[in-house]
Amino acid sequence: MECTRKQRYRRIEEATKEELNALKEKVNKSIWRQKFHIQPVTGLLNDPNGFSYFNGEYHLFYQWFPLGPVHGLKYWYHTKSKDLVNWQNVGIGIKPNDYFDSHGAYSGSAICHDGKLHLMYTGNTRDENWVRHPYQCLAVMNENGRIEKLQEPVIKEVPKGYTDHYRDPKVWKENDTFYAVIGAQRENKTGCIVLYSSPDLKNWTFEGEVQTNLKEFGFMWECPDYFELDGKGVLIFSPQGLEPKGDQFQNIYQSGYLLGNTLDLKTKVFEHGEFVELDRGFDFYAPQTTIDHKGRRLLVGWMGLPEIEYPTDKDGWAHCLTLPRELTVQNGKLIQCPVKELETLRQDSVNVKDILDDEKKMYEGFNGTTYELICEFTNMEADEVGIEFRSCKDEKTVISYNRKEQKVTLDRTHSGEVPAKEYGTTRTCSVEGDTLKLHLFVDTSSVEIFINDGVEVFTSRIFPRPESTDIRFFARNGKVTLDTTKYNLS
Ligand code: FRU
Repeated sequence: MECTRKQRYRRIEEATKEELNALKEKVNKSIWRQKFHIQPVTGLLNDPNGFSYFNGEYHLFYQWFPLGPVHGLKYWYHTKSKDLVNWQNVGIGIKPNDYFDSHGAYSGSAICHDGKLHLMYTGNTRDENWVRHPYQCLAVMNENGRIEKLQEPVIKEVPKGYTDHYRDPKVWKENDTFYAVIGAQRENKTGCIVLYSSPDLKNWTFEGEVQTNLKEFGFMWECPDYFELDGKGVLIFSPQGLEPKGDQFQNIYQSGYLLGNTLDLKTKVFEHGEFVELDRGFDFYAPQTTIDHKGRRLLVGWMGLPEIEYPTDKDGWAHCLTLPRELTVQNGKLIQCPVKELETLRQDSVNVKDILDDEKKMYEGFNGTTYELICEFTNMEADEVGIEFRSCKDEKTVISYNRKEQKVTLDRTHSGEVPAKEYGTTRTCSVEGDTLKLHLFVDTSSVEIFINDGVEVFTSRIFPRPESTDIRFFARNGKVTLDTTKYNLS
C-alpha cells in the first residue's frame, strides 16, 4: 500500500475519535477477520513481543502500527490470557514517545524480576538525515499492569564492528545473571547474534558474538531467542537474505533454529547442527518463546512476513499471531504441538472412518470456515493422499502427501486471493513414513497444519470467499484408510 513517510509516522494520539471509529468500522466489515487468533483492532500487527507468564496470567504483546496496514511507527500492543486461548485486549503497552524510541518501540522480550515484569525492547530512532540509532530500553510492569519506562536506555551504543541494524533483545536468567541475545548485522553486512550479561537488567556488559558456524548466512538476523530444552541448546532467529535451496527458504525471509549443545556463556561458543526452518508454510516469521509455570516451552509466531502486501490491506488491517505451540526435542529435532488448552475451543464434532480407493469424497458435517480437523491416513497404497479444504467449485486449498517422494505439499494456488505469488504458490517438505497424520486449525483466513504430531508445521494465511466451505478427502492411484474427526471451533 502506498503511504507517505508522514502518514507512516503519524501517532495514534493525533487521530480523532471519528477517524479511528471509521477505521474500526472498515476493519470490522472485512470478510477475513479471524475468530480465534490474536489480530489487531485496526492497522498492522507484526512480531510477538514480551511473551511471558506473570502474576497468574499469560502476557503477549505485539508490534503494532494502529493507523493503517503498513509498517509505520510501532507501538507495543498488550494482550493477556489466563488460558492461552481467550485473549483480552488490554491496550497500548509501550508508546514510542521518548527520545530513545521516537521512531518505534521495536521488538523485545519480558522477564519476571523482583515481583515485576521487565520488558526489554529496542528503541528505534532516526536522526534528521534519517539515519537509524538503535537503543536497548527497559520498561517495568507492576502487578497492577501499569507499565513505566526507565528514562534512560540500558544499552546506548552499538559496539564497533556492527551496523545500526541492532535490535530485538531476548532476555533470560541463569543462576544470578541475566543474559540477552540481540540480533545484529556486522559491518561486512552479514547477520549474527551478540550476547550481553547483566546483574540487574539495567547495567549490561557486551560479551561478544555468539560463535556459530554460520559465518555468511544472510545480511541480518532478526528476533533471536535462546533457551535450553531437554538438555539441548536451541537458538532461534529470523535470517534475512537467504537464497532458496531446493524446497527450503522459499519465503522472502526465513525463521528457523539451530539445535546443539548448550551455549557456553564464557566462550560464547555454540556447537550446533544445521539451520532448520521452523515452519514450512507461506506466512511465518519472528517467533518468540517463553517458559510457563508448568515448565512448558511455548512459541508464538507472527503469521505474516515483512515487505509483502496482503488482501486485507484494503480493509485497513494486516496480519495475526499464530496459535501458541508447545516445543519439545525428539530425535534431534524440535517438535511443535498446539497447546492442549486449545481443546477447550472444541464444540460439536463429527467422525468418519472410510477407505478411499482412487477417489475424492465429501462427508456429511465436514465443511465450514473455522474448525479443527484431525485426519489419519493409514494402510497407504495410493500414490498420493490429501485434503482439499475451504473449497467450492473454483477455490480450494490443498494439503497432500506424495508417498513415493515422501513429501508433503501445501498448495494455495486456488485459495482465493493469493498474496506474494511471485514467491510461488506451493510449499513442500520431506516427511518420512507410510502413515500420515494431519492436524489442521482452520480460521476464517488462515490455516496451521501440524504434520505427524508436530514433526513439521505449515502455517499460512488464505483468503477464500466465505462460501468456500467444502472439505474433500482424496486418494490417487490406490487405496488408503481414512479416520478423521472435525470439531467446530468457536
Ligand atoms: C521483525 C522486525 C524486528 C523489529 C520489528 C519492527 O519483523 O523487523 O527486527 O524489531 O520487526 O517492527
